[in-house]
Amino acid sequence: MQNFEYCVPTKVVFGRDTENRCGGLVRECGGTRALVVYGGGSAVRSGLLGRCTDSLKAEGIPYELLGGVQPNPRLSRVREGIALAKETGADFLLAVGGGSVIDTAKAIGYALANPEFDIWDLFMGKAAAKACAPVGAVLTISAAGSETSNSCVITNEDGWLKKGVNYECSRPRFAIMNPALTCTLPPYQTASGGVDIMMHTMERYFSNTEHTELLDRMSEGLLKTVMANTKKALADPNDYDARAELMWAGSLSHNNLLGVGKAQDWATHKIEHELGGMFDVAHGAGLAAVWGSWARYVMHFNLPRFTRFAVEVMGCAMNYANPEETALAGVAAFESFCRSIGMPSNLRELGLGDITGAQMHEMAVKCTQNDTLRIGGLVRLYAADIEKIYAAAK
Ligand code: NZQ
Ligand code: ZN
Repeated sequence: MQNFEYCVPTKVVFGRDTENRCGGLVRECGGTRALVVYGGGSAVRSGLLGRCTDSLKAEGIPYELLGGVQPNPRLSRVREGIALAKETGADFLLAVGGGSVIDTAKAIGYALANPEFDIWDLFMGKAAAKACAPVGAVLTISAAGSETSNSCVITNEDGWLKKGVNYECSRPRFAIMNPALTCTLPPYQTASGGVDIMMHTMERYFSNTEHTELLDRMSEGLLKTVMANTKKALADPNDYDARAELMWAGSLSHNNLLGVGKAQDWATHKIEHELGGMFDVAHGAGLAAVWGSWARYVMHFNLPRFTRFAVEVMGCAMNYANPEETALAGVAAFESFCRSIGMPSNLRELGLGDITGAQMHEMAVKCTQNDTLRIGGLVRLYAADIEKIYAAAK
């Protein structure tokens, strides 16, 4: 195991009706004026936004609203939020939604705390963040894990570049997690979220670092829990206990609990982010469409890891005479799980059957910043490798 530091300062407030406490939590975190960020309408329709603003009012905290955040959140909305926060003097970003809303709030927070550079320079690696204005989250979908993560992913419509940054200062001050809020999710988003949760653990599980037994067993437990409870939540959308398992798994999967002390991979995420940027697909669905192709491309570099995944997570029998067969069976079993929850296992099933070679080339080039970056920790991938992975996923 490698040396590591671990600090997740987000206060988690978990359970039914906890959204009614958001005003008090903003005040506890020192917020005096809030910008409330939300999405395309689900939080309005469910009445959640009203409950959150009532809670702010009860605490005497003035607020402005910034709605209309889209999935694969856009830079233009971030800029709108920066202008509104500056104009009104907001000192706290309250995100009511999923990863897209929370990431928009984080990006606004970066801009408020670092006025000396343009926000997009941060995402392009041309500037470094010293701080982030405080963000609090009222989570409505178990998926991205942004409610406790240090990540923020934004899409610039100019060139359709989807880029992420990671800074500890962006971890939300609090995360309100009421599993009942996720009961209104469309099945596709429940399933896509389940895959994303799994993938955050798998990006850490597929590692060449040895002697991480505790993390391996915890990861395997999380993956099996998410598979079982995604199915339960799809069968009965109002199954509170299944929703609760998924919600807590979503945070634990991406707050780096399962990634400390080891090299991590993240190639599948980088490969998917290009699909999200260019084709606006749901993030988890995009991951499901390319993971099998990535896995088959790299598995020979660490066959024991893939056979362990096959046996311990996917329940395959170990073939000692032919471990490659076991590893392949594990990948196929994961793809079969994806299909069973309505997720794609290739680009055609994702709705991108018409994708061209030129588009795959463009994504591979963008993904590696003109072939200057190597992607992945298990195996370092070049643009040419990534192009082959897209092609095999077609
Ligand atoms: O906009 P509304 O109307 O709210 O609808 C949303 C949206 O259409 C809907 N939804 C959310 N909660 C709902 C609901 N519908 C009904 N009832 C509810 N309770 O779900 C749709 C997707 O929302 P979104 O916020 O985009 O989902 P998710 O949490 O999956 O976030 C995806 C984004 O996060 C990024 C992804 O790349 C993508 O841009 N990620 C962020 C990470 C991070 N910051 O740590 C890590 C991830 O790997 C990921 O890259
Ligand atoms: Zn993800």
